[in-house]
Amino acid sequence: MTNGDAGSDSDSDADELPPGPDGLPVLGNTHQYIKQPMGFFDELAAYGDVVHCEFPRIDAVAVFHPDYIGDVLLGQGTYERWNFDELKELLDYEIAPRGLTFTRGEEWKRQRHFLQPMFGLDRLKGFSSAMVAATEEMVAEWDDGEEIVINEEFSRLTLSILTNSLFDFDLGKHQQVITEAADELQAMADMSGLGAVEMLLPSWVPTHRNRRYTQAMDAFDATVDTLIQERRAHPDQYDDLLTMMLEKEDDHDYTMTDEEIHDHLITFLIAGHETTAMALTFTWLLLATNPDERSRLETEATTVLDGPPTAEDLPDLTVTERVAKEAMRLYPPAGLLFREAVEETELGGYRIQEGTKILLPQFTVHTDDRWFDDPEQFRPERFRADRSDQRPDFAYFPFGGGPHQCIGMHFAMMELKHILPIIARRVELDLLSSPQPDVNMELTLQPSDDVRMRVHKR
Ligand code: HEM
Repeated sequence: MTNGDAGSDSDSDADELPPGPDGLPVLGNTHQYIKQPMGFFDELAAYGDVVHCEFPRIDAVAVFHPDYIGDVLLGQGTYERWNFDELKELLDYEIAPRGLTFTRGEEWKRQRHFLQPMFGLDRLKGFSSAMVAATEEMVAEWDDGEEIVINEEFSRLTLSILTNSLFDFDLGKHQQVITEAADELQAMADMSGLGAVEMLLPSWVPTHRNRRYTQAMDAFDATVDTLIQERRAHPDQYDDLLTMMLEKEDDHDYTMTDEEIHDHLITFLIAGHETTAMALTFTWLLLATNPDERSRLETEATTVLDGPPTAEDLPDLTVTERVAKEAMRLYPPAGLLFREAVEETELGGYRIQEGTKILLPQFTVHTDDRWFDDPEQFRPERFRADRSDQRPDFAYFPFGGGPHQCIGMHFAMMELKHILPIIARRVELDLLSSPQPDVNMELTLQPSDDVRMRVHKR
């Protein structure tokens, strides 16, 4: 993808609104977006680096230049996270409004400051054994010659790691409820195909999707309430994120309500498992079709390590890190970031009106040939330190940037650097499904169909 008028902003007058395609009256550009979300942004990029597009009730601007992406992500006060308020009215449902991914301003700042220590590197080191144990267990359950659906395997794996580390509970009986809630949330956010039509109906309209969603979320709420009650009954037995949230109730500076705790639990369970699962799925998909890169990963896993990784080994796993980063370049799990201009401003030489929604499409920026040679090729070497330094900041931003940068970034990288070498040491995975599956933009970027692989044990 190459942008149409890269760098032309210096000639622009800040009174001018950004250029963009004409949409159909009323529907705006929705029909183009729904048909093919990723292709839609590639087409928009042909209009420039700051491009206007329209959806029903929503005026949006997509941003394709790393400098302007930086302006948006670092420009807190001018840009805030877009909380989909206009759509909430239309859809009649909300996901964790008091959780860290939706709060704004002082409330967000207070929460972030409060939760951050749980994600410090020292604290995370203690989760290494949970990451190893869960991965070893998954691989041990695979039989030689068995066909597996890797997106499902990785989804179960990352959920189990999350619940065993950040939340000290055994997934066991809760797994089905949590997985179903996560699946239904993904389906709700799916804008492709029939989903888009159903999405426009409020959740009280009893469509098949809405019924499933309501049932799944009711069961999930009940499970979360049970977990909170169990912790309240035995506060001394645990040392995890949930206990930390409850303990602070004694602190007069800050009391977390049950509603907040509930929303944080949902936030972490959803934000923290499917993203990493998708990073693993797409990494393995790319390795299956790039045998040289796969053997480099295997060599590192068998020469640098003499068993499963420990936290101390992680800095030496440079090939593994580059492989994971390159996979998240081509298939960024979060896909698209959203902001809202909360005051009138200027971006890339164009006037941005107050209330304009700002879309930051990672997948388009990550495959821009101004920053990446042969952008469609899987080349982990791009992430050698000397080569990364040559790129502008925000040409690559799978974890976002600025104050809202992913709080789980180190946790996720640590997971990837544990899981990839363990699998590489123990099995070979041969791809059975399409090497280039269609992808959907749901809550995360997802393959439209399951990714199937055959296991060969070493
Ligand atoms: C490969 C895995 C992951 C990717 C690619 C990813 C990506 C992102 C991105 C792009 C953002 C910024 C969103 C924005 O600016 O609007 C974000 C925020 C967030 N992520 Fe992640 N994430 C991953 C894993 C995790 C994990 C493991 C957790 C928790 C355990 C987590 C929890 C969160 C939370 C709570 C936020 C909101 C932070 C804030 O606004 O202060 N993520 N993530």
